[in-house]
Amino acid sequence: MKYGHFDDDAREYVITTPKTPLPWINYLGNQEFFSLISNTCGGYSFCKDAKLLRITRYRYNNIPYDNNGKYFYIKDGDTIWNPGWQPTKTTLDEYECRHGLGYSKFKGVKNGVEANVLTFVPMNDRCEVSRIRIKNTTSTAKELKLFSYVEWCLWNADDDERNFQRNLSTGEVEVIDSAIFHKTEYRERRNHFAVYSVNTKVDGFDTSRESFLGPYNGNDTPDVVTNGACTNSVASGWSPVAVHQINVTLAPGEEKSFVFVLGYIENDENDKWESHGVIKKDLAWEMLDRYKTDEQVDKAFDILVDYWKSLLSKYHVKSSNDKVDRMVNIWNQYQCMVTFNMSRSASYYESGIGRGMGFRDSCQDLLGFVHLIPDRARARIIDIASTQFQDGSAYHQYQPLTKKGNADIGSGFNDDPLWLIAGTSAYIRETGDDSILDEMVPFDNDESVATPLMNHLKRSFDYIVNHKGPHNLPLIGRADWNDCLNLNCFSAHPGESFQTFGPSEGPVAESVFIAGMFVKYGEEYAQLCELKGDKADAEYARCEVQKMYDAVLKDGWDGEWFIRAYDAYSHKVGSKECEEGQIFIEPQGFCVLAGIGVKEGLAKKAMDSVKEKLDTKYGIMILQPAYTKYHLELGEVSSYPPGYKENAGIFCHNNPWVSIAETVLGDGDRAFEIYKKTCPAYIEDISEIHCTEPYVYSQMVAGKDAKFFGQGKNSWLTGTAAWTFTNISQYILGIYPTLEGLSVNPCIPAEFGDFNITRVYRGVTYNIEIKNPNKVQKGVASLTVDGVEVAGNVIPFDDSKKTVNVIATMN
Ligand code: BGC
Repeated sequence: MKYGHFDDDAREYVITTPKTPLPWINYLGNQEFFSLISNTCGGYSFCKDAKLLRITRYRYNNIPYDNNGKYFYIKDGDTIWNPGWQPTKTTLDEYECRHGLGYSKFKGVKNGVEANVLTFVPMNDRCEVSRIRIKNTTSTAKELKLFSYVEWCLWNADDDERNFQRNLSTGEVEVIDSAIFHKTEYRERRNHFAVYSVNTKVDGFDTSRESFLGPYNGNDTPDVVTNGACTNSVASGWSPVAVHQINVTLAPGEEKSFVFVLGYIENDENDKWESHGVIKKDLAWEMLDRYKTDEQVDKAFDILVDYWKSLLSKYHVKSSNDKVDRMVNIWNQYQCMVTFNMSRSASYYESGIGRGMGFRDSCQDLLGFVHLIPDRARARIIDIASTQFQDGSAYHQYQPLTKKGNADIGSGFNDDPLWLIAGTSAYIRETGDDSILDEMVPFDNDESVATPLMNHLKRSFDYIVNHKGPHNLPLIGRADWNDCLNLNCFSAHPGESFQTFGPSEGPVAESVFIAGMFVKYGEEYAQLCELKGDKADAEYARCEVQKMYDAVLKDGWDGEWFIRAYDAYSHKVGSKECEEGQIFIEPQGFCVLAGIGVKEGLAKKAMDSVKEKLDTKYGIMILQPAYTKYHLELGEVSSYPPGYKENAGIFCHNNPWVSIAETVLGDGDRAFEIYKKTCPAYIEDISEIHCTEPYVYSQMVAGKDAKFFGQGKNSWLTGTAAWTFTNISQYILGIYPTLEGLSVNPCIPAEFGDFNITRVYRGVTYNIEIKNPNKVQKGVASLTVDGVEVAGNVIPFDDSKKTVNVIATMN
């Protein structure tokens, strides 16, 4: 069942009922000011950091679901309704929500009144603009009252939901005409404030939540709206809000438009007051002036739309498969931008106060983003590397505002260092800019110990070389990619964090997955050494990679598949010898995509085992058989009920690894089959089972052991976005950036047909036509570049041309 449809021309998903199985959300903002917005106008805004600079308040884990947002109420006689349905939930005569790229549109119709809301964050501004157009479609005049409503968050979202003994006394506002300023804590340590304003004279306002709602009322029945009159309350402590009242008279057929701006302003520390106790508002007035008229709003909106159009032109496919085209050209890349911006901080499942920017997460997010805005990827690599420790290991997360490592979340995840190599290599392959390797980068934000980035990569590499266990495989530390495989933790008491409890390192527990990563990214590191002219380091790296390869074949192979790990007793994890958890997906995918066991014939066996033991109609499960009891020596992985999360859920993130592995083996049919199973556009029809948004990936889909097999959870912020884009764009469709130039080597289903790709790479536009006359799955027989046949399948990079036409013929 569907709850809407794709509108590919508009690049929108159109939701046609507010009653989606879960809130279906969108993200507004690209740089500093961000909003989450659901299909019923729920959500919140923040600037730069969802924990430290939260602008409006949201209530996680509350009822009704999706509680609090930025609402417009329309009072038409005794009928009170919202264009986005919530919070009054008055039945609408018509409803539509269009989530687009960086904007959302809502249409609500009730009793002949049509309201259209457009909401977006303009480029390069710290505000959200919402324009509401109200039209009287009847033949009699209408006297309406329009109310806006946002609830301020007292900045630190974590403190805001805990520290009531203080916070109920700190709230402060100022009101000047239509502009409501939120200035809590401005008097002392802050120099920022927020404003909510509208481009018309108002007929009233409220800034005290109590006055607006009335005691014991929820957002669904505010007293002020019921009574049709604001009280002009000025908040003092408690919960400040911003409400505007506009009385709207509409002749038959008449439409009126109002522009609301929610802005965030930072003043100079030394120049923050207008007069004693009165905030300086010049910057706010300037901001509001930028969005005073419909023309200004249209212009800002057009700039945003054009921005996305131009970004998405960097990789564009035209095939006979509209679902692939839609995901590749629009939604997958869009999600890559969002995961790049948010990492794992703020979604409807990440509260914005727990996790921040993940070291491994952000390095992986880069993989799907770097082609869009390489400069931002470059800056991010430096930020990430700046939190690395001197021994090459890393904080697992850092805070977006301070960019400092977050000790509360822990460290010692031994895969982390290698992801830095992965991200840096992707950046250099994309841009050719190896100057990044010479950038001086601190360790743990300490500038006094800064070294060139290349040296950070060396320490990443050496960390693995110097942390091996009894089988010469990498020690796992607290965990590897699978945060829940806690082989040194031994947590027996509730409340102990699996991520921080126990020793961060044990001398025995080893990870075959990290070994696979080391083989893959060790080789990429060796190539970077060569690029820098450091032959000796390249040779040393390749020698270490070879040792690791051999170690995996010797002690990481179980007969039919790769072992997952060795635990702290040196017992196998993910082996046929185990009672539960006999086979895991991660080493199968990563070892094979790294090329391990390909020539020995083991890779094919591993893939066959995945198909036989882990595959389902909704995707490949992370392990089987599920753990049915808690294993002290394995940790969190065995804490989940069977079928959920890391305990035999379909963890979408590593499905593309297996798909890529299949392309390494040349099986395009199977690679594509795997791609399709978790691909949102392909499962749109089962939205009532899948539940999460049909335009983005979720972290997890419940596995076959779970009661709700096929149900998605934790949508949006997942490495699945970047890895799937990498898979489809670089391996299946086959346009892979190498250090020398773009390589063209698709691996597609026999029946996929011919296709074209436009790829902007290092400033050159490549129009690539791929022909497959004999329906092969892999293999490029000839490559013609601007009419000249070239050997191999790498297009030699030549920046003297702006456009290059390529024909690749498969055979
Ligand atoms: C984390 C990833 C991790 C994955 C598997 C996600 O929630 O953000 O870093 O690799 O779970 O445990």
